[in-house]
Amino acid sequence: MKIIKLNAIDSTNTYLKELGKDLMLEDGVIVITKKQTKGRGQMGAHWQSKSGESLTFSMFKRFSSLPIEHQAGITFAVALGVKSALKKLQIPGISVKWPNDIMSYQKKLAGILIENQFKSNVISSSVIGIGLNVNETKFENLPQATSMRLNTGVVYNLDEVLTEVSEAVMIELQRVEGGDFLKLKSDYEKVLFRKNKVSVFENEAGQQFNGIIKGISEEGFILIEAENETLQQFRLKEIKMLF
Ligand code: BTN
Repeated sequence: MKIIKLNAIDSTNTYLKELGKDLMLEDGVIVITKKQTKGRGQMGAHWQSKSGESLTFSMFKRFSSLPIEHQAGITFAVALGVKSALKKLQIPGISVKWPNDIMSYQKKLAGILIENQFKSNVISSSVIGIGLNVNETKFENLPQATSMRLNTGVVYNLDEVLTEVSEAVMIELQRVEGGDFLKLKSDYEKVLFRKNKVSVFENEAGQQFNGIIKGISEEGFILIEAENETLQQFRLKEIKMLF
């Protein structure tokens, strides 16, 4: 795999997206940096990590004709790939908090930011950004963050972790166009954080309610059984899990 290594950049996702506008990028190209000055997270959030202690990288994936209806398959595949690499690295308690936070027990170990490029009505490529907390031991003002090192006591070689994670993600991504969408979805549902457990959620209006995560719709929305036993679906902006 071709890897572009940078000392510092605003965001590896932004950089790779811009590069893809000018160049016909090879499938699987990776951009990695020691330091991001404007690391981006889900829903406009900021992604912070200490220079040289964790992994912040983006991968380019080209699709030949991926229908928009299967967009959620990319989310499923990337989360499953990161999870399987972490399992191989013997990190305990891994699950996926919908849509794509990678958890170790109750704490967040990695975040994923997927940005798709479209041509007519198909997805032509994706820029997949991954922030994985590897050797960091202190997270200021982030009580729900953890790292691989905090979990196991091991200091990891960042290049080795990058290889494991990027290879596992590319393997899972091959399934997205291979007609494996429903199997990908069911594999993803099996590793969902707090599935089938009563959890507290907050809706857009700020109202809290108890519900049980039952699964994911084909569009990638979360399916929650409310207290009155109705199954309701929510998009990312519509709901927050309080845990
Ligand atoms: C989230 O959990 O909110 C997603 C975080 C994604 C962070 C990664 S770090 C590498 C890539 N470049 C970015 O600007 N963001 C992603």
